[in-house]
Amino acid sequence: MTNIIDIRDECQSQNLRRVLEDSLLSQQPSIPPLLLWDEQGMELFSKMTEKGSTNSYGSSAEMEVLSAHVDDISKICDDGGILIDLGAGSLHKSSFVVKHLAARNGRVQFYALDISPEYLQKSLDSCTPQMQQLGVQSVGLAGTFKDLISWLYSNGHTFTKPVTYLWLGNSMANLSIGEVATTLQQLIIGLPSRIRGSTKFILGLDACNDHKEIIESYTSKPTELWALNALKHANSLIGTQVFRLDEWEYQGEYDDSTRCFTASFVARRDVEMRLRGKMHRFTAGQPLKLAHSYKWNRGDLESLLESTNLEITNCWKHTTPYCEHFPLEYLSPNILPG
Ligand SMILES: C[S@@+](CC[C@H](N)C(=O)[O-])C[C@H]1O[C@@H](n2cnc3c(N)ncnc32)[C@H](O)[C@@H]1O
Repeated sequence: MTNIIDIRDECQSQNLRRVLEDSLLSQQPSIPPLLLWDEQGMELFSKMTEKGSTNSYGSSAEMEVLSAHVDDISKICDDGGILIDLGAGSLHKSSFVVKHLAARNGRVQFYALDISPEYLQKSLDSCTPQMQQLGVQSVGLAGTFKDLISWLYSNGHTFTKPVTYLWLGNSMANLSIGEVATTLQQLIIGLPSRIRGSTKFILGLDACNDHKEIIESYTSKPTELWALNALKHANSLIGTQVFRLDEWEYQGEYDDSTRCFTASFVARRDVEMRLRGKMHRFTAGQPLKLAHSYKWNRGDLESLLESTNLEITNCWKHTTPYCEHFPLEYLSPNILPG
């Protein structure tokens, strides 16, 4: 079994419950997107993004870009370096890169970060034997991006080799521009100063701007089932059935001007729920925002990076127009952060 280090704080049940109740009781009620990613949510997500499924446009395109450019990608990661996968999921993509890297460069230390320790264990165990044969040392980190940053501040000093972060699957675009810029900076600053300047990021961004394709993919039945699992997760955190699934309708909207897809639940009728000992009413038609996903293009990424010390060093795109919207951007620091 692969070693999993539990670094959870932000996504620990009691913290998640508090944030959930705060979010439901706020002026613009919402469900924290972290609720999407328990073990069951991960299983549903993995199924819906499998090759050939309705939601696979992004995943397949990104995998094809990785396959086509894995040699160049491997050259970036220094000999015997450290690879950290931010939101590893099924590890389908990152394990492909890690294996290639190990076959080419020898020893690799691989850290897979994700929220559900159970799902992380399963994903790592399924690919560890093959990775071990290639000289990969794998460790799972169960926690969020914020938890990783805190962990790096206390444990990053043990790193002696340059770090390459993989941030694939358009996951960074579920955060806001400001959050991404801060996260990128903190992921560098958390490392010891002697290796900070060699830090690299490989980002998989979905720059699709086809309204119809986005809506079809993000409002398909499998996506709806995955989203509804967040309500089940909310019930289990609160310890009672505050959400009856038939009272909420899943809705998705894509705003072409902001290039942002927003997923929400809308109350089908007036709904009452007991939160923190009091009854609260959600009126029919009231939305509960669940998550968003930006479709950033090159220009968006450049402006996002203005407040950081990072610059785009390379970009790999698919050769067919259909997949062109899933470029992998490679970032490296242009100035050593202090
Ligand atoms: C869109 S999936 C991408 C999975 C995988 N990287 C891929 O490309 O197939 C997003 C992944 O990020 C994880 N995730 C979401 N929010 C996170 C957070 N705040 N901290 C750490 N992981 C997070 C999810 O659990 C999920 O595995």
